[in-house]
Amino acid sequence: MRVAVAGATGHIGSLTVAALERDGHEVIGISRTLGVDLLTRDGLDEVLAGVDALVDATSCTATDPDETVSFFGTVTRNLLAAEHKARVRHHVLLSIVSIHRVADVAHYAGKREQERLVQAGPVPWTIVPATQFHDFAATVTTWTEQDGVATIAPLLVQPIAPADIADVLAEVATGEPQGRYPDVAGPQTEDLVDMARRTNEVRGRHLRLVPTWSGPFGTSMAGEVLLPAGRARIAPTTFDEWLSAGATP
Ligand SMILES: NC(=O)c1ccc[n+]([C@@H]2O[C@H](COP(=O)([O-])OP(=O)(O)OC[C@H]3O[C@@H](n4cnc5c(N)ncnc54)[C@H](OP(=O)(O)O)[C@@H]3O)[C@@H](O)[C@H]2O)c1
Repeated sequence: MRVAVAGATGHIGSLTVAALERDGHEVIGISRTLGVDLLTRDGLDEVLAGVDALVDATSCTATDPDETVSFFGTVTRNLLAAEHKARVRHHVLLSIVSIHRVADVAHYAGKREQERLVQAGPVPWTIVPATQFHDFAATVTTWTEQDGVATIAPLLVQPIAPADIADVLAEVATGEPQGRYPDVAGPQTEDLVDMARRTNEVRGRHLRLVPTWSGPFGTSMAGEVLLPAGRARIAPTTFDEWLSAGATP
């Protein structure tokens, strides 16, 4: 199959490209560094010719809800319009577990807008909600790190290995559209502070962590709200295994 990956140069996008190529598919990479801007649609129509399915693994770093809604809304509208024109048969969206249960996280507002547009759009779709990635905890500490100290919320999560979610996306994209896919998670629950501490240890980084609910993640994310719901698909790689393999993103 010919599969396009939007966000092909990103963390999960690049692993999804690798998984698709490993399985013998032809991959069309989409990102600004590859010459396609999804906010302006420049270069998009040209690369979608003959594409069977598209995986959307784009992201933005905005911390304001209006900005995330604007980014994900514009990107999704442009993708769906171009896919419809090119007769792409399947749009696969990488989403996040629990975005409908947590109201006050800016990134989640953009992800809800993405999901809304995909569900209302003209291209048959699958939405794949994933839990936090194994490297998420260490990433969070970089947002507040100053003079060797970082704050981090003590979230309860059931994280997934980046390569595992990429494998799921590649598998889904090369199958039939399924609508809302079950939540996809790793095999074990973990504490985000402990994850960050252990990741930094393996990476040889010395950082003092201060657990708090006063940072970007507040108590709306406390308890079991971030855990997968219903009959989740459980990916194989534990956080410990990912650490033992070097904790590389
Ligand atoms: N972090 C987590 O734990 C987690 C959990 C579940 C789901 N997710 C979701 O996973 C998705 C992927 O996250 P990630 O960390 O892999 O993202 P990432 O590494 O930040 O990559 C983002 C990608 O989007 C591309 N991009 C950004 N703006 C663009 C534009 N205007 N036009 C074209 N391409 C653009 C970037 O390429 P260029 O810069 O070259 O344009 C890059 O390839 C996100 O939607 C996120 O919500 C994350």
